[in-house]
Amino acid sequence: MAGNISDERIPNNVDLSSDRRLQRALCDWQPSFVDWWKDMGPEGFQTSDIYLRTAVSVHASGWAHYDYVRMPEYRWGIFLQPQDEQRTIGFGDHQGEPVWQTVPGEYRNILRRIIVTQADTEPASVEQQRLLGKTAPSLYDLRNLFQVNVEEGRHLWAMVYLLHSYFGRDGREEAEELLDRRSGDKDHPRILQAFNYPITDWLHFFCFTMFTDRDGKYQLGALAESAFDPLARTTRFMLTEEAHHLFVGDTGVDRVIQRTAELMREHGDDGVRAAGGIPLDIIQRYIFLWVSLSIDLFGGEVSSNAADYFATGLKGRWKEDRYEEHTCLGESLPIERVVEGRVVTEDVPLRNAMNEVLRQAYLDDCAKAMTRWNRTLEQAGLSDRLRLPDRKFHRHIGLYAEHHFDPEGRLIDEATWEARRGEWLPSPEDEAWVRSLMQPVYEPGKVAGWIAPPRKGINGQPLEMEYVRFA
Ligand SMILES: [Fe+2]
Ligand SMILES: [Fe+2]
Repeated sequence: MAGNISDERIPNNVDLSSDRRLQRALCDWQPSFVDWWKDMGPEGFQTSDIYLRTAVSVHASGWAHYDYVRMPEYRWGIFLQPQDEQRTIGFGDHQGEPVWQTVPGEYRNILRRIIVTQADTEPASVEQQRLLGKTAPSLYDLRNLFQVNVEEGRHLWAMVYLLHSYFGRDGREEAEELLDRRSGDKDHPRILQAFNYPITDWLHFFCFTMFTDRDGKYQLGALAESAFDPLARTTRFMLTEEAHHLFVGDTGVDRVIQRTAELMREHGDDGVRAAGGIPLDIIQRYIFLWVSLSIDLFGGEVSSNAADYFATGLKGRWKEDRYEEHTCLGESLPIERVVEGRVVTEDVPLRNAMNEVLRQAYLDDCAKAMTRWNRTLEQAGLSDRLRLPDRKFHRHIGLYAEHHFDPEGRLIDEATWEARRGEWLPSPEDEAWVRSLMQPVYEPGKVAGWIAPPRKGINGQPLEMEYVRFA
């Protein structure tokens, strides 16, 4: 892309056409981004026409424009929620002071770190999902996968805009490195561990968008409270797109459950495999896996970093408005820890427990989804129920990482863990079974046999629409 970046090319509400410095920075970065997309984006569909939503403004009515687009030509835009001149810092030691429009020198490094860590997850998830298009259960699902992928690309743009605009040279270097790291690469992996596993089947994908994108929702929500106003305004708009990703995950898992329930009714519990479905106990193990991987992303239960982020105003709680008190001094949170082979509860100063506060908000949200999914089982006339694992189960970060717990949260020894983990986490055989069902269904209106059809189409379109036109 040479010369002037037009607003037509990059939809934005940051007055890009009058900011020559930023234009130049994005001019340098954009070709590398497109190269990265062609290399690491969805494999095999770069020339297909896909019915995609593009963000074209931030207005609640009609911010999204739908049309057939080739993914490398997607118009990745830059949108911030409009500035509220009156906005003040909502929590921590600076509560009530005006929010910051530039980065205070003393917080520059940690703020950059926070932004880079969030930014890194966006391209990482595209890399993790890049082979899924080959096995989509329907054109509707294929289109949703690509919608999620291009929007994760836009989220990367959103974070790169902040790096280029507010962090000078180090920001530019970080923006380049975001395109250099690779999910799962031994020498140059993505920053957070949950973003280094390839997503090898569609049940993993639906669980990822349900549980890991939902971590993203809560992280973005905490940053939407930030005293650094451009970050708060950026993440607020990202959340509107994130809602669709969560919808894809939530309804995706629900449709698998619905289909499994139908097959259980027709063929009995043991007949699900023969009928080409995914047994309910495999779905449960996938849920246990993805909840445990996703809650690791909130960080340690007791964290001085989390306390600092809250004190300085960088990162708040989920919907800080719903609390009456915003300093969190003199309060505490009970947290379980293992002392001499027993689980005991100890009070931790609330600021140090901020990761746990956010994790709890997330788990409450997940519990609601569980209720919805169990209603699907109930409506099918089944007494089986799915459940969340205890927060201590299968953790790799924080107080519980050194110990083993069963999904009910009971402390168990290594031998018990090894003997029983196959009951709780997907085994290689489980994954092989699910993978064996992953045959693409690309005929408009048709859906694979292991998943129920969606309730309705995209943007009011019929289910039979040709959501993807292959080139
Ligand atoms: Fe995202
Ligand atoms: Fe997402």
